[in-house]
Amino acid sequence: MLDETQGSNDIIVEAWNTVLFDKYLRFKHLFTEGLAPHTHQVLTRQGFREGIRVLDVGCGFGDSTIAIARMVGGKGEVVGIDCADRFIAAAKADAAEAGASNTDFFVADASISDLRGPYDEAFARFGTMFFNLLGAAMINIRRSLKPGGRFTQVVWRKREDNAFLYDAELCVKRFVPVVSHEETTAVHCGPGPFSMAGPDMVSDMMQATGWERVTFERFDCDISIGRDLDEAVQFAMAYGPAGEIIRLAEEEGEKQVPVIMEALAEAFAGYVREDGSVWAPSSAWIVTAFNPG
Ligand SMILES: C[S@@+](CC[C@H](N)C(=O)[O-])C[C@H]1O[C@@H](n2cnc3c(N)ncnc32)[C@H](O)[C@@H]1O
Repeated sequence: MLDETQGSNDIIVEAWNTVLFDKYLRFKHLFTEGLAPHTHQVLTRQGFREGIRVLDVGCGFGDSTIAIARMVGGKGEVVGIDCADRFIAAAKADAAEAGASNTDFFVADASISDLRGPYDEAFARFGTMFFNLLGAAMINIRRSLKPGGRFTQVVWRKREDNAFLYDAELCVKRFVPVVSHEETTAVHCGPGPFSMAGPDMVSDMMQATGWERVTFERFDCDISIGRDLDEAVQFAMAYGPAGEIIRLAEEEGEKQVPVIMEALAEAFAGYVREDGSVWAPSSAWIVTAFNPG
C-alpha cells in the first residue's frame, strides 16, 4: 500500500468537499433517482448474497450502499467510503433515516487509505472515473477483498452515446475557452466522467493492477436530467465537463451563461416528455473483475 503522504489528491478532495458537493446536493434527486437504474441493474443481474460484507467505493450520498445493504440483509454489512467528509456525513444521515443499520461509512481515499477489509465484494457507481491515482486505487481495493472477491464498477461509455453530457460540453465550448487543469490553481474533479470509457485501456489497467476475468456489459437507459427543461439546463451547466469548463473559465465563463442557457435549452428540447420532465439516453459499462487472491 502507498504511504498516506504519497498521494497528490488534496486538490481533488477539496473540490469534492466544496464546490462539487454543493452542486451534487443541489441536484441530489437527479443523482439518487436518475442513477438508480444502474444500481438496480447490478442488483438484479448479479445480486449480492445474503450475509456478505461489501465495500461501496466513492459512495457519495450512499443510496447504492443502502440498496445493497437491503439485499445482504441483517447478517451482512455494506461499508461506504468516500474521500469527502461532507458526502460521508450526508450518507450516514440518510442511512439512519432509512433504518439501514447494517451500513457503516467512513472517510477514506480509495488509493491510499486502509479500507478496513476483508470484503467479499466491492462496488463503485460512477466513482472510479474521478480517481486521480486510479492504479493505486485499483490495487488498494483489490487488496481489501478476499481471494475470489468480485469488484463491480459502473462507468460511462463514450461521450457520443451520452449526449446529455457531450452535447452540453460541445455547446459550452462554442462560447467559453477551455482552461486545462494544468492552467489553473482552482480545485477540480479529477480525470472526469469519460476517463474509463475505453474497454481496452480499462482492461489493460485492471490486469496490470492484478485483477482477473475482466468483463464489460453495456447498459443503456434513459435517465432523468431534470423535472423540467429549465432544471435540465441548470443541471448541465453544473455537472460534467460543461459545468467544469464554465467554472474553471471563471469570469469569462460567467459572462457567457445567458447564451449558453439558450443553446442548451435548444439542444435538450428533444428530450422533453409530455409531462415536461426531461429524460436523455445514456450508456454505461458495468465492469466486473475478480481478485485472484
Ligand atoms: C460522481 S460521484 C459518485 C457518487 C456515487 N457513487 C453515486 O453513484 O452517486 C464520485 C464520488 O467519488 C468520490 N471520490 C473521488 N475521488 C475519490 C477517492 N480517491 N477516494 C474515495 N472517494 C473518491 C467523490 O467524493 C464523489 O463522492
